[in-house]
Amino acid sequence: MSIDLAALPHDFLWGTATSAYQIEGAVAEDGRSPSIWDTFAHTPGKIDGGDDGDVACDHYHRWREDIALMRQLGTNAYRLSVAWPRVMPAGDGPVNPKGLAFYDELTDGLLEAGITPSVTLYHWDLPQVLQDRGGWPARETAEHFAAYASAVAERLGDRVKHWCTLNEPLCSAWIGHLEGRMAPGLTDVTAAVRASYHLLLGHGLAVEAIRSAVPNAQVGIVNNLSTVFPATDRPEDVEAARRMDGHTNRWWLDPIHGRGFPSDMQEVYGVELPIREGDLERIAAPLDWLGLNYYFPQTVADAPDGPVPHVRTVHRLGVPRTGMDWEIDPNGIEELLLRLTDEYGARRLYVTENGSAFPDVVRPDGTVDDPERQHYLLDHLAACASAARKGAPLAGYFAWSLLDNFEWAYGYAKRFGLIHVDYRTQTRTIKGSGYRYAEVVRAHRERGRRAA
Ligand code: IFM
Repeated sequence: MSIDLAALPHDFLWGTATSAYQIEGAVAEDGRSPSIWDTFAHTPGKIDGGDDGDVACDHYHRWREDIALMRQLGTNAYRLSVAWPRVMPAGDGPVNPKGLAFYDELTDGLLEAGITPSVTLYHWDLPQVLQDRGGWPARETAEHFAAYASAVAERLGDRVKHWCTLNEPLCSAWIGHLEGRMAPGLTDVTAAVRASYHLLLGHGLAVEAIRSAVPNAQVGIVNNLSTVFPATDRPEDVEAARRMDGHTNRWWLDPIHGRGFPSDMQEVYGVELPIREGDLERIAAPLDWLGLNYYFPQTVADAPDGPVPHVRTVHRLGVPRTGMDWEIDPNGIEELLLRLTDEYGARRLYVTENGSAFPDVVRPDGTVDDPERQHYLLDHLAACASAARKGAPLAGYFAWSLLDNFEWAYGYAKRFGLIHVDYRTQTRTIKGSGYRYAEVVRAHRERGRRAA
């Protein structure tokens, strides 16, 4: 499938994305305190292969080499996350100068390389000390998050303009507090709903903090959304799909657009929201952009006896899948970009993550060919361009991920990188998909030059 590059603006951000815990390593260096992911990863049985993020891609020491690789790809943007436990090891209170210095140098290095940094403040690594004081189910965590956001924004804001508060709050709240498959590993609907509320409150408070520290900041939030389909046309399954859409999409989108928390879902969860005066307005603080992380569609059936939201994911036979067992459907990314445009009136959109894991093999000549990932990438880029052609205000695409990295509960076995990492030697090798991405970026850039 060819990509309609003419549909994408000349100043399009072509990026890659990573997150702190997944690549940095150096978990006990320079004053960093443990996060909930350190605790979770070191709890026996939680992570496949008994893996943890202690060393990961050793990016904390190898970031210069990683910037050089971005230059080889020709990308002009990079989405990174800041580790809260590096910057504020006590969760609140004093800033750790060495922790901030790391991101300071990284920012300078990116800018020198002509790469725009896009900084995410929270990609799931809550300081464990704050978990011990109640974590996201507690309101104070939202307040501490705003203070941490303010410290980072004050330090980097003279150079970083592109800010994201939260990455995928759905995972923090639902997978971390309801399903227990991510840190902090709880299975408690009350904790989960309260966490979801305080994550969004923290987002709103952080938006204010960033705006007051950074003139001309471009602030947004990143949600992982899915297209959702009923397994059959039985009314029960249609209703299940509506609940899953509420759980996955509307619960996160409606409040930040000033529509409040969906009442149908409040009924499904049956948990009173800890709303205080002014909260809903804060949660709906105006944003400059919305980030979409898209990986797969979901097909669901009614499961009245299952946990909330009482749905069962249906494994459709004969549908292509990635190494995560996730269905491949590029139409979903187009559909969601258009939904954000039409239903939520988005004025600027970024695909902040999109990518696929496959079991890559390093060939005897040292190269890594990954035809399936290349198809996935090109097909999804084509769908993005198609959405832009139909009116979605798409301003950038960030491939997940720059590097193979610690894939949370799946450990290192699942590889999402455009660049292969040999974890024994920390050798990086650009995969076929990395070269394909570089070709697309170059072709778009050349189009722009010709048009200028
Ligand atoms: O690796 C994750 C990332 O941290 C958040 N979004 C989905 C990716 C792939 O599972």
